[in-house]
Amino acid sequence: MHMAETVRVDLRREFADPAARADPGPVYARLRDLGPVLRSRDLFGETFVLARHEEVAQVIRDPRFASDRGNVPGGRPLARWWTPSLLKLLVSSMVLKDPPDHRRLRNLVQQAFTPTMVANLEGRVSEITEELLDAAVRRPVVDLMADLALPLPLTVIAEMLGVPPADRVRFRTLLTALQGTSDTNPVALLRNVPHMLRLTRLLRGLVALRRDQPGDDLVTALVQAEEAGDRLSEDELVSMIFLLLFAGHETTVNLIGNGVLELVRHPDQLQRLRDDPELIGTAVEEMLRFTNPVGLVAPRHAREDAEIAGVPIPRGSMVTLLIGSANLDEAAFPDADTFDITRSPNRHLSFGHGAHFCLGAPLARLEARIAIPALLRRFERLDLTMPAEQLPWRPLIALRGVEALPLSVTPAG
Ligand code: HEM
Repeated sequence: MHMAETVRVDLRREFADPAARADPGPVYARLRDLGPVLRSRDLFGETFVLARHEEVAQVIRDPRFASDRGNVPGGRPLARWWTPSLLKLLVSSMVLKDPPDHRRLRNLVQQAFTPTMVANLEGRVSEITEELLDAAVRRPVVDLMADLALPLPLTVIAEMLGVPPADRVRFRTLLTALQGTSDTNPVALLRNVPHMLRLTRLLRGLVALRRDQPGDDLVTALVQAEEAGDRLSEDELVSMIFLLLFAGHETTVNLIGNGVLELVRHPDQLQRLRDDPELIGTAVEEMLRFTNPVGLVAPRHAREDAEIAGVPIPRGSMVTLLIGSANLDEAAFPDADTFDITRSPNRHLSFGHGAHFCLGAPLARLEARIAIPALLRRFERLDLTMPAEQLPWRPLIALRGVEALPLSVTPAG
């Protein structure tokens, strides 16, 4: 028997085609066909690539694969003493940490995102949704992104964090500018440095504000944890707020946007949901699986020699996990290419798995389960004003979504 071989691909090029942004499905399918373990280069160097459900699900929860490349023998941490503070900020979040730092950071905010705490937000999420729909209902063409999908999660997370209303627009403008960042284009990353600097200043301003004027919000709680001792450094504090603000809406925006788009493209599924609103629970899970608001997780790094599907993975190697592809794997999901709002079971990996499982999953689910039915109640007809392929898809694999989703609407009588 000969050694298992790995095929080399160029991930960046694979996803550069605008058609792949609108629908990465065919690229994912090709990658899965090429084998269980592939190789590529990315911005940070040589990496193994996993595109099938079985291998992605295995490695994503395996503690032998670190999220912090500094914890790998011979691995270079992303941030070192000479790293500009701006970058340090970006890479100090819990997403890129391992135990014990990961636990310590996650515990500090875990409390705010338990299912019970999130259930308490239900009333407020409905209220914001209805206000946004009140404004939208007066327009003949609704841009689902600008009118609902973006402002809802942003307002919710801004209120949780204690961002004053006057600052929210500035945060939003900067975060929107950052969305222009293409993860396939390093030049675009550099172009965003000024936005990042402004955003950092705004975050530090928020911390200073809550030091002076404590409130009943998450930033105040974090500031107090930082002041109480060595549980949280200043960089980690700012990084945490950035993470929550960014992860707290950037992803849910696309869940609501892509989810509604898929309903509009599948009138039979839309009608089923109208006929039986109880299906919203499984419908949102299917939107998470089928539309992949997040296409890949932070790369993992082998702490020790390992093997994946018979392929030796030397310690120190980087592994890229394409959860977006795993979610469309026929081997894990019968009729994987079919959008079925009643699908159950649905073992999608859209929120990750294991120690880094998405902290905000209960909140994201709550927002989608409230916003989408409210939209359907308001409008008896929702039609795309242009072919779906011509929608302005964002140039990202990690975050998949459209910039605008214009719908002609007929308000319910
Ligand atoms: C982690 C997806 C919404 C906060 C993650 C991860 C994924 C993910 C895949 C794992 C990253 C990894 O393993 O490297 C999503 C999706 C969302 C969503 C698809 C919406 C549809 C949210 C919201 C919040 C949030 C609303 C907070 C308000 C976080 C945090 C982590 C995380 C803090 C890091 C957890 C850790 O490293 O332990 N998310 N997320 N997410 N998410 Fe989400």
